[in-house]
This record gives sequence, structure tokens and C-alpha cells, in this order.
Amino acid sequence: MIELAAAEELEAAEGEVLAVPVLTDRVWGPGGEWVAERLGGRLTEVLDEADFDGKPGQVASMPTPDGFPFGRVLLIGLGDEVELEGIRQAAGWVGRRTARNRDVATTLHQVDVEGASRAVAEGFLLAQYRFDRYRSEARPPLSSRLRLIGANAAQLEEAERGRIVANAVVLARDLINEPAGGKAPAAVAELAAAMAEPRQIDLEILDEAAISDLGLGGLLGVAAGSERPPRLLRLRYRPEGAKVRLALVGKGITFDSGGLTLKPGAAMETMKTDVSGAAAVLGALQAISDLGLEVEVVAITPLADNMPGGGATKPGDVLRARNGTTIEVLNTDAEGRLVLADGLVLAGEVEPDLIVDLATLTGACHVALGDKIAGVWSNDDGAAQSVMAAARRAGERVWAMPLPDDYRKNLESDVADLKNVGASRYGGAINAALFLREFVGEVPWVHVDIAGPARWPEEEHYQSKGGSGFGVRTMVTLAEDLADRLAHDGDPLG
Ligand code: BES
Ligand code: MN
Ligand code: ZN
Repeated sequence: MIELAAAEELEAAEGEVLAVPVLTDRVWGPGGEWVAERLGGRLTEVLDEADFDGKPGQVASMPTPDGFPFGRVLLIGLGDEVELEGIRQAAGWVGRRTARNRDVATTLHQVDVEGASRAVAEGFLLAQYRFDRYRSEARPPLSSRLRLIGANAAQLEEAERGRIVANAVVLARDLINEPAGGKAPAAVAELAAAMAEPRQIDLEILDEAAISDLGLGGLLGVAAGSERPPRLLRLRYRPEGAKVRLALVGKGITFDSGGLTLKPGAAMETMKTDVSGAAAVLGALQAISDLGLEVEVVAITPLADNMPGGGATKPGDVLRARNGTTIEVLNTDAEGRLVLADGLVLAGEVEPDLIVDLATLTGACHVALGDKIAGVWSNDDGAAQSVMAAARRAGERVWAMPLPDDYRKNLESDVADLKNVGASRYGGAINAALFLREFVGEVPWVHVDIAGPARWPEEEHYQSKGGSGFGVRTMVTLAEDLADRLAHDGDPLG
């Protein structure tokens, strides 16, 4: 575990590496002047050589002369309009460039933006994330300490809250990166139990029989082609004094082969990622509990393998969801909406103030918004605004998408209440969202399609290639906002 500590003011501090932010056109951030005064012309030379002018993501490293209190100075570009996410990313670049230094000191948290200390901790810790479980050869060690120059007790505590958030993202990333062979639905249930047990979180694990008793025909239908039976997790965090109830629903397909509507091999390569919605929900709940937020949260994750085994649901089969709605399954690869249908109905039964679902739902959303932006759909403008504002503060990019009523007819079936795919592939992400809407009734609901950003395509700032944990930070921030707004004016969605 990387220790977060306060350090003396610059005048008195010393150490291995000092990371200092610089704004566009080499405008010094906190500590910059101090460094420049002591390193003088040599610093200018290094910056010129590196073509460093302070743009976001630029990094210049300089070995220091004898007598300087730090062995190396790392200058990190912040750009000109500094926002929380810029600080988080800068801390991420620092974390990448210092992973071989045991002790790292920084002034980055001194940038005058609210929440900077937390963002620094989040960015630094997440940048040093690695998924090494299956490597035979050990990789070089990571940092053991990050020191915040001149930090007071409040800043250090804020940084520790950043660690809570980073740990939750790590939980999600580990679950997503785990090969499908190692994460049957029952294994995911065990992981959730390990998370919930030491916390103030109740966990109910529904096995196949219980799932059947509850009439979760969508989940059963998806799981039918796998030898690994489904599970449904219902978790509840209910702190004293909570006045708002948030329901989170996460798509937990432990592997998506497409089922009998089998995916081509290449499209299957990343489908261990299809558990990302559930992973985000579990991570968010862990952090919400560790932060002690005054919000009741009910989390529901349907877990199933989508496989083409002998018992598999066949194109044309009809399933009956928890609320009685019948669904003609024309494409077994549109399985996410089938398990979410049951999950959303269950979520509505706890009478929440707001339901948010997170799902790697459609390739169409990935096509529309690319690798790094999620799509957002909602039946309630206030709810959508709440989620989008939280995403912004959390540094997760989302984009609002429409729910056009006249497209609903794309989902009309010849034999059942609904069919699970639209008539054409156009607007595929919208059709999926319209399908989900059928299962939420009148409850304010926000659907977040994370098909793109659930899996980060490259090593970049605090993201590593592979499972990103996208959604954890937005859900935690949303819970914080709901708690705050309730404390201040009594209307969580106003
Ligand atoms: N899990 C996939 C969606 C997906 C695709 C996520 C690519 C991440 C990257 C989902 O279950 C799926 O297969 N959707 C189909 C729906 C179609 C059959 C209507 C799709 O998008 O092709
Ligand atoms: Mn699928
Ligand atoms: Zn899927």
C-alpha cells in the first residue's frame, strides 16, 4: 500500500523526487518559482530540450546538482484552465513517471481548485495500478510513499478520501481484468461477500432456484446456455439518518460469447469486460460505505455467462421478465437488456428516489461516442442533470442521448410484448435504452452505456490499458451530491 503523508514546506523538505506543476507558457504552479530560483539556467535548458511549455500531460525530468534537497525534479504540464480532472490527470502522469521511486513529493495539491488533494491521491494511486496476478515475472516495485508538501490535516484527510475512491476503482478494474475463466457468477458473488462482510453492507446472494422463484426470466434465459449457473446480488448500505434512496443496477455478464447468435472470434476477445457495470456498482458501494455517505444505496447485479450450450435460449424463444413482460429473443447477443430488465424491476420494488444502471450494453454506443465517452439516457431531466454533473466532477466523460417515443415501435414483436432487438442496426444504442425504459415504470431513471470507456484502449495518465472502472467515480460523486443537496435544501434531484 502506498502511504500518503504530509511533508514540510519546500524550504525544509528533502527527498528522492519532487513533482511540480507548470501551466501553459511555463507559468509556474505552486513550488515552480522556488525550483526555478534554485536551478536557474539549467532548468530552462532542460525545458527547452524537452520542448516543454506546460501543456497538459507534458512531463520534463531533471536530475539536480549536488546540494539540492531533491535528487530529481519532475515538471508536469497542467495547461491553462486548470480543473479538477486536469489535476487528477497530472497526478497520473506523475505516478507513471515515478513508479520506480520509492518516495515522491509534490506540490500539485496546492493548485487552487477545490478537491485538489483528493484528485492528486486518486490520480497518483490509480496510475500505479497493475494487474499482475497472472505474470510469472515480477515487475519493478512501485512507489511506497507520496508526500504532499505543506499539507494540513484537512488536505491529508481529503487525500485519504481519494485513496478510498481509488481502492474502489481498483476493485472494479481487478474484476474486469480477471479472465472469464476465473470469474463465474458464483465467484463474483464471493468477491462481493468479501467486500460487504467487513462493512455495514447487507448482501443477499440469490442462486438459480431463488432467481427462478422470483420469476427473473430474463436472467434465467441468458444463463441457460452456460454450465456456470447465474447469481443475482442484492446489496444494501443503509446508514442511519439517510433520507434518500439510490438504486444502482450493474450489468454483470461474466463472459459474452453472444450465445447462439455467436460473436465472431475477434469480437469476443474483450468480452470478459462485459461484467463492467456490475464491477462499477460493487466498487461504488464499497467507496460510499467507506466514506460513510448519508445515502441509502441498494445495488443489484444480475450475473450470468452468455454461452451457446445445449440448453441455450434460441432465437425466437420467449422469456418472461419479473414484471410479467414477455420478450421475444431474436438475437441472443442482445443479452444485457434481458438481465437488466429483471434487475431494473427489482430495483423499482425498493421504491428508490433514483435508479441508475451502468452497462456495457451496445457496440452501437461504442461506435457513436468512441472509447472514452459513455452515453446517458433518462426518463427525467433532473435525474440526468444530476448524473452528468457528477460525472463532470468525477472526470468521467458522458454525453446525453435521446429517448424518442416514436422509435418505440422498433421493439414491437409479432408474438410477445417486446422483442429484444430493433428492426435495423441503426440507432442500436437508443433501441436498447428504450427497451430498458419499459422496466422502470415511473421512477426517475438514468441509463449509462459504458460499452466504450469500460475498457481503456491505452496507457494514459491514471488509466491503464484494460478495465478502467469507469462509473465508480461518477456514482460515488452522485451519492455525495445527493447527500449534500439533501442536507442543504431537502430536494435530492432539484
Ligand atoms: N456486450 C455487448 C456490447 C459491447 C460491444 C460492449 C462491444 C463493449 C464492446 C452486448 O451484449 C452486445 O453484444 N450487444 C449487441 C446488441 C445487438 C445484437 C442488438 C451489439 O452491440 O452488437
Ligand atoms: Mn451481447
Ligand atoms: Zn453483452
